[in-house]
Amino acid sequence: MAITKVNISPFFTISKVDKRLFGGFIEHIGRAVYEGIYEPDHPKADKNGFRQDVINLVKKLKIPLIRYPGGNFVSGYNWEDGIGAPANRPVRLDLAWKALETNLIGTNEFVDWCRSVNCEPMLAVNLGTRGPDNAKNLVEYCNYTKGTYWSELRRKHGYLDPHNIKLWCLGNEMDGPWQIHAKTASEYGRIACEAAKMMKWVDPNIELIVCGSSHRGMSTFASWEAEVLEHTFDHVEYLSIHTYYGNPENDTAAFLAKSDEMNIFIKEVSSVCDYVAAKKRSDKRIMLSFDEWNVWYRTRDEQKKNWVTPKPILEEVYNMEDALLVGSMLITLLNNADRVKIACIAQLVNVLAPIMTEKGGKTWVQSIFYPFLHISTHGKGVVLTSVIDSPAYDCQGKSIPYLTIACVYDADKGELKLFAVNRHLKKSLEMIIDLSSFDSFKIFECISINHPDLKAVNSLKNPNNIKPKKNEKAHLNKKLICVELPIASWNMIRLVKK
Ligand code: AHR
Repeated sequence: MAITKVNISPFFTISKVDKRLFGGFIEHIGRAVYEGIYEPDHPKADKNGFRQDVINLVKKLKIPLIRYPGGNFVSGYNWEDGIGAPANRPVRLDLAWKALETNLIGTNEFVDWCRSVNCEPMLAVNLGTRGPDNAKNLVEYCNYTKGTYWSELRRKHGYLDPHNIKLWCLGNEMDGPWQIHAKTASEYGRIACEAAKMMKWVDPNIELIVCGSSHRGMSTFASWEAEVLEHTFDHVEYLSIHTYYGNPENDTAAFLAKSDEMNIFIKEVSSVCDYVAAKKRSDKRIMLSFDEWNVWYRTRDEQKKNWVTPKPILEEVYNMEDALLVGSMLITLLNNADRVKIACIAQLVNVLAPIMTEKGGKTWVQSIFYPFLHISTHGKGVVLTSVIDSPAYDCQGKSIPYLTIACVYDADKGELKLFAVNRHLKKSLEMIIDLSSFDSFKIFECISINHPDLKAVNSLKNPNNIKPKKNEKAHLNKKLICVELPIASWNMIRLVKK
């Protein structure tokens, strides 16, 4: 067993956690909407056709906001196709995923569904094939009270009160050649600036997210962010940041180190935001919206049959090591809570998802469901600076500590929550934390997830192969807590004041 020490104090803090850090994402893609959240013929469908078994699982995750309707899909979407009587809605070719879009679910239905899972919608506007005028109209349709063309149309559609949607994404991954009507940084910067102005003139209370690079590997990464922000700095609150990691070479140690790369990525993007602020002599701080993050590599090039819907694409099957990386990525998000205020796991149901559905049948949860559940439920409070002294391994010339940890303190409730991953593939870790700067605690709960086979998965037939277990190896001696973190494990330790 290896030994690792962690130093924390209630006085050394990073930031209060913004609850929007635990957001989700539902795109019109594959079986996310149709056969995912919406299946009117399912025995568990409610009067609106939404599966209540899915609603219950989403509610369990306590997701505060969900991004919609894309993703790549939004860059060819006419939002007007998805309003009014469903029978009159057009069927369209979705060029993003080579699918048929029936438009049976649109903005109003999605808002209804969000209300039923107790979360806020976060809408994206189409800045691919469309532009500022349509974006402004959508804000007016959703948020303007009454007495104008678009607000009255909403009221005619049965929604007398405005939806009051606060968060809006100005397009999606506009630098990507795969994007419908992709743009250069200056083309996008200009259009995003004008859309932002018009949307805020309609509703000054909204907050806007402008697109950063699609990922860190893009050739224009960093210069894209700088140029886009030069145009939009005064009109937006957040810059988006996206990443998906994978393990195609089957090098688990390198795969588990990716959350450290995510940390560097966040620091780099923050620096670019501050560079633009400095050029503008501004003390405004653009915050980050990490609105797509997850593991994704096995189903990267899937399109399957063209022009049908729903088609099962991007149904990544997540294993034990994926749960470890997802947990580590959540830890990285928490440790950057001073800069990352919004984040959305991509996605939520069936597509790159913690929650899976069988058509006409059951649901099950994938391995990645659990670390997300633990942090979204208990990651509330202030993130503390964790100074760790951990043995490390070498990964492509970088030293990667076996331990990755985030500590969240809720002084009001008297709770200290520790989220930790042991990245050692052969040894357990004895984690020792000196709690002498705190009042006296007792251990309330200690749970771990591990499996002898890192490739083990949950499935419809074997839904409980990977699930949390009580960890009995946690002890508190006066003010020293010692926990044995199993080999390659996800762990949550909750302490409460005595
Ligand atoms: O989440 C799947 C896709 O990944 C999204 O549509 C796109 O934004 C990203 O490239």
